Amino acid sequence: MQKHLIVTEDGSHTLFVPDLNEHYHSTHGAINESVHVYIHAGLKQQTNESINILEIGFGTGLNAYLTLCETIQNGQHIRYVSLEKYPLSEAEYSGLNYAARIFPAYQEHFLQIHRAPWNIPVDITPQFQLLKVQADLISYRFPESDKFDLIYFDAFAPDKQPEMWDNEVLEKIAKTTRQEGIFVTYCAKGIVRRNLASLGFLMERLPGPPGKKEILRGRKI
Ligand SMILES: C[S@@+](CC[C@H](N)C(=O)[O-])C[C@H]1O[C@@H](n2cnc3c(N)ncnc32)[C@H](O)[C@@H]1O
Repeated sequence: MQKHLIVTEDGSHTLFVPDLNEHYHSTHGAINESVHVYIHAGLKQQTNESINILEIGFGTGLNAYLTLCETIQNGQHIRYVSLEKYPLSEAEYSGLNYAARIFPAYQEHFLQIHRAPWNIPVDITPQFQLLKVQADLISYRFPESDKFDLIYFDAFAPDKQPEMWDNEVLEKIAKTTRQEGIFVTYCAKGIVRRNLASLGFLMERLPGPPGKKEILRGRKI
């Protein structure tokens, strides 16, 4: 996939994929969006000392980096599993300005996250273990025993990649979510909300980041 580096309205970068006519983040602010959706509406709702996180779409590593930086501030222990079908090249990730704009003291961790090998768990810090899985979500089978407390569902939008939001795919995610686990996404589509509700999530519509009216959060009941 060809990608172009774009500066969003908060000054942070995102990538644009011409073939899909789609950005990796909101053009109103990539960092603003990730902090709002995944850190505030997701991570900060899970107050356990140890949390198992599943991300769909590792992409630029922004969510992983923000999550790691939070653990340094708050002392939580995180196992972070992230699925990605199309990993970025070094040339693509090394141009991203996230660490220069937020938590610059942890710049090295941003690079460590990207340089970590695929499909092997790596302790990036004593509190943050990363497992990047190079896989296609559509065909991927989650290990039966792996249950997650928090899901960051950050796939391309349903109108660009409908197969990622299919009920069968969401059902796999529901099965790998622990009871009381939280699912968050920037997507606010009614069909996604209703499908997740039918899979056992108690769904909420929350105010979105700049440029977006609402986002979705579900709690597995
Ligand atoms: C909206 S982007 C967001 C990525 C990331 N969370 C970030 O902040 O940069 C969606 C990501 O899903 C990945 N993706 C697309 N199809 C996939 C598939 N079938 N399985 C796993 N990942 C996929 C894309 O390559 C891209 O990195």
